[in-house]
Amino acid sequence: MKTKTLTPDASGVSEAAALLADGGLVALPTETVYGLAADARQGQAVASIYAAKGRPSFNPLIVHVASARDAQQYGVWNAWAEHLASAFWPGPLTLVLPLREGHGLASIVTAGLETVALRCPAHPVAQALLCAFNGPLAAPSANPSGKISPTRVAHVLAGLDGQVNAVLDGGAAEIGLESTIVGLAGDTPVLLRHGSLTRSQLEAALGEPLGVSTTPAAVSAPGQLASHYAPEAALRLNVATPAPDETLLGFGNVSCALNLSPASDMREAAANLFDMLRQLDETADKIAVSPIPETGIGIAINDRLKRAAAPRSSGMPSIG
Ligand code: TXA
Ligand code: MG
Repeated sequence: MKTKTLTPDASGVSEAAALLADGGLVALPTETVYGLAADARQGQAVASIYAAKGRPSFNPLIVHVASARDAQQYGVWNAWAEHLASAFWPGPLTLVLPLREGHGLASIVTAGLETVALRCPAHPVAQALLCAFNGPLAAPSANPSGKISPTRVAHVLAGLDGQVNAVLDGGAAEIGLESTIVGLAGDTPVLLRHGSLTRSQLEAALGEPLGVSTTPAAVSAPGQLASHYAPEAALRLNVATPAPDETLLGFGNVSCALNLSPASDMREAAANLFDMLRQLDETADKIAVSPIPETGIGIAINDRLKRAAAPRSSGMPSIG
């Protein structure tokens, strides 16, 4: 198939919605990363997401909705969900809830689990598409399984050109890291994936501490099995002085090939991370990365970097 790039105006959005209604695949911008969307109620359409990404069928997908009200059709809502959704939706937060009876989602969306991951994105193009489509969209990140998530249309096309019907061009993703995932289907709320929302922001909204997930990652999110976010090049972290054969991805006031943020701004670094890793991966065999402070969004940046640096089949949990 030929992948069409659509401008994110009313006609592009309605063309994308029509493709989705027909069971097609559309890559869409969100404020975190680009997603690869299909109608979450059509099993065949969702199956083609797994096929295009080469994603193992046991790794469930996030269902995107236009509002918290829509989310309540699919997940069993509770007080935690209410607190978090009122504080952070629409936005870069995914909530895992028990599946609601009569939800109508294709069973492969949740990989047969009894829980569902729900997200209401803030990006105006994602919102416009969800409203025009008027239904739930299953959408993992729009990259081949195991590769770096896309933050620009060019990244989507580099991995999936010819395998999706269309890409809606929403420019560069503002945040650049995948959403924070909170599990709300157990006895306490648990942080399942770090993102741009910090633990303290989440706990302030919840009014209670977030528990540590005691379930092995492989059970709470069955996709967490292999190395992920992997560039082709070898990656070495927390490097002050790179070796002669290494290319430095810098942070702060250092001399380097590319700088995540010369001003040491962690939000800027997050937004640049995946794009700069891709750029360096095109030419370098060995990439070294400057130390990034382990505070705020730096925790999520370091989490992605550690996964990208993990040996490719180390069994280091992958997160999507
Ligand atoms: O920012 C994001 O979250 C992006 C944009 C497109 O929304 N999406 C994204 O999707 O990162 P993906 O599929 O790459 O990562 C989703 C993660 C996977 O690790 C998956 O295992 C986990 O969410 N997940 C999905 N459903 C789950 C469930 N019911 N319980 C636990 N984890 C779940
Ligand atoms: Mg992913």
